[in-house]
Amino acid sequence: MIRSVVRGVGSALPKRVLTNHEMESMVDTTGEWIVQRTGIRQRYIAGEGETTASLGEAAARAALANAGMQPGDIDLIVLATSTPDNTFPASAVNIQNRLGIHRGAAFDIQAVCSGFVFAMATADAYIRGGMARRALVIGAETFSRILDWNDRTTCVLFGDGAGAVVLEAGEGQGTVGDRGILTAHLRSDGAHKDKLYVDGGPSTTGKAGVVHMEGREVFKHAVGMITDVIYDAFKATGTEAGDIDWLVPHQANIRIIEGSARKLGIPMDKVVVTVDRHGNTSAASIPLALAEAVGDGRVKRGDLVLLEAMGGGFTWGSVLLRW
Ligand code: UT7
Repeated sequence: MIRSVVRGVGSALPKRVLTNHEMESMVDTTGEWIVQRTGIRQRYIAGEGETTASLGEAAARAALANAGMQPGDIDLIVLATSTPDNTFPASAVNIQNRLGIHRGAAFDIQAVCSGFVFAMATADAYIRGGMARRALVIGAETFSRILDWNDRTTCVLFGDGAGAVVLEAGEGQGTVGDRGILTAHLRSDGAHKDKLYVDGGPSTTGKAGVVHMEGREVFKHAVGMITDVIYDAFKATGTEAGDIDWLVPHQANIRIIEGSARKLGIPMDKVVVTVDRHGNTSAASIPLALAEAVGDGRVKRGDLVLLEAMGGGFTWGSVLLRW
């Protein structure tokens, strides 16, 4: 059977770092509160000329180099973002053009913080269905541009960045020993749509709007939803927590990450954590963390890697893959 195998991974961050210390002079907060409640110590903020498409392009180029491939090898680009450069065309098309690719298909996916998991599942379905052979799956965000910088309950949490993987169709035996994506599980429930949302959009206000979040409400649901959809992945593949080499979670809050790992019985030394340095980069956080853990040699060929995310919508999902 066809499996979508990861051939390369890459990431890109804006130049500017914004520390908690600097945050103290911007809103009524303390570095201590931010670290204690979230684990975040700093985040990266896009400057002039840095956009979702430019960061996504840089991450894509890094992933292609890591895979030993050229842009022309790619026939599908799936970009997960909630902060596109323009309302349309899709920023995926912008990235496609920046890479000099003029074949195949490119489109955006919008599932907020779960976007990368949704994009991986989508690209996997295209590859297994024979509609694409080599896909760039990108998560890229510039949340700093949709934050209310006077709202201390949201502006301290988010950051900008991008990450990407190259997926290629490979041959598998249909067992959990195969390389590539083994299973993917996606969920949404719009009943929660007002707990984390942006108060604008083309069809309502004609403006981009800013992020609003009932943090405590999101927090309350997070661990249960994340672990539910991970149990789905275990059930579908006959695997269990003890089989996982690396958990690469969406990076929203260290307390959510630790709570999920504890509930699953996965020790923290098998969990990739970047939230301290990146903050919550929404759809970019998983591929940013993956690129780091592959780059420093933690994630190795043959490892069983579990991705999970939960975010606005609510949306949530998991992807289990063998590196
Ligand atoms: O990416 C996926 C979606 N997002 C998430 O997963 C985020 C989920 N939520 C969270 O991570 C947490 O709920 C937060 C980090 C957002 C907040 O942590 P919390 O422990 O739930 O705090 P809280 O909202 O219950 O607020 C506690 C107190 C409040 O003061 P009172 O009402 O107790 O007097 C807040 O007003 O902390 C106050 N507060 C702050 N204080 C200093 C809120 N923001 C700040 C701040 N600095 N930046």
